[in-house]
Amino acid sequence: MDKFIIRGGKPLHGEVVISGAKNAAVAIVAATILSDEPCLLENVPEIRDINICIKILYEMGAGIKIIDKNTIRIDPRGISDPVVPYDLARACRASSYFFGTLLGRFLKADVPLPGGCDLGDRPIDQHLKAFAALGARHSIDGGAVSLRADKLIGSQIYFDVLTVGGTVNAIFAAVKAEGLTVIENAAKEPQIVDVANFLNSMGADIMGAGTDVIKIRGVKHLKGVEYAIIPDPIEAGTYMVAAAATKGDVLIKNVIPKHLESITDKLRKVGAFVEEFDESIHVRCDGKLMKTSLKTLPHPGFPTDMQPQFSTMLTTADGTSVVTDNIFDNRFRYVNELRRFGADITVEGTTAVIQGVSELNGATVRATDLRAGAALVIAGLMAGGTTVVEDIYHIERGYENIDEKLRGLGADIVRDTDYDNKRMAV
Ligand code: EPU
Repeated sequence: MDKFIIRGGKPLHGEVVISGAKNAAVAIVAATILSDEPCLLENVPEIRDINICIKILYEMGAGIKIIDKNTIRIDPRGISDPVVPYDLARACRASSYFFGTLLGRFLKADVPLPGGCDLGDRPIDQHLKAFAALGARHSIDGGAVSLRADKLIGSQIYFDVLTVGGTVNAIFAAVKAEGLTVIENAAKEPQIVDVANFLNSMGADIMGAGTDVIKIRGVKHLKGVEYAIIPDPIEAGTYMVAAAATKGDVLIKNVIPKHLESITDKLRKVGAFVEEFDESIHVRCDGKLMKTSLKTLPHPGFPTDMQPQFSTMLTTADGTSVVTDNIFDNRFRYVNELRRFGADITVEGTTAVIQGVSELNGATVRATDLRAGAALVIAGLMAGGTTVVEDIYHIERGYENIDEKLRGLGADIVRDTDYDNKRMAV
């Protein structure tokens, strides 16, 4: 399997352009099912999770035309059988968006339980609660969820926990339901606003996305549109942290600075220089970083998807940092790998205590999930000597051309497709 070989210890310098947001794009690709006509999506990141969602659409009968690597035309009219294949559903979390979109269009859906990063328990009870409120029945058999409705009728949906996926799926099922749906305690992440903007441009009537109350008045038809996905705030945040962690100087282009405020704020607190422009952000760091305490929270709080990268940066900060991540049960699985670099971290429950060390030393490590994988790449860039990051397919689920973009910033990182054979030969 492919690996990244990194010769670290060099500051990142230069400019990097951020791709479209993975977590908005996977939802919007699935949402094309709700359209009566073809849609043209732009700024779609070329990543594995998108390829899986496109394959699901294709297998169900949609017409797919790849215009260029970031532009895709999807014609959902050929879909007749709302059944998602098991192996594709298992390959990513975003397959859960086919619950809401298929139910919204066909009043039925058969979708195996989703896979995705192993971050602990990832239930779907809130998704099912929303579908039930709109009039759908469900059963789970052989690892697949079967949803059926005679019709969907607008209703009040109250989420017991803040859920991004649950909120998006409730919107999908409500957008063509009869009458008014009110979602309370809705998640507010940027991808929810992007999904609502996409659907509204098709003729949906969604108000309040980005706040905790979303109102949706059902419509009968949604038309085909051309739509560009927002830039990825987590990819941008990853390069911001990589710049600071390597004591570099990087201009990160094609971003929405407002989406990055919690990351910007924390980077400034630990001593990095961050300057915001209209569509770019400049991060520089020339001194030692300082300890901090950090707690992940739903948007607009500090995102759980940036916790592994930020914690990795703190391994060489001055003093003891405390990082708490309660969003998922188990988002510290990468810590064992980080210790191989010489990092001093202890984890108790959902809190990590990071004692800053003077330097990291290159190591051979294994990506345990997407963001953990990005964090290990950052550790490799920070560390002296050579680092090998294995299982990089996790990283490729969500980062477009990460090695190429890092090389553009002066990093010494190569993808080795033949690493195992060469090692055997030694
Ligand atoms: N939850 C429930 N019941 C549900 C749904 C969620 O209890 O029915 C709980 C979860 O167990 C978790 C919390 O609610 O404790 C938040 O989960 P949420 O539903 O918000 O997460 P998600 O929709 O499964 C999306 C992103 C994740 C990101 C989280 C939180 C996508 C495809 N995934 O997941 O992204 O961490 O929101 O912001 O949008 C990543 O990109 O690396 C990634 C893991």
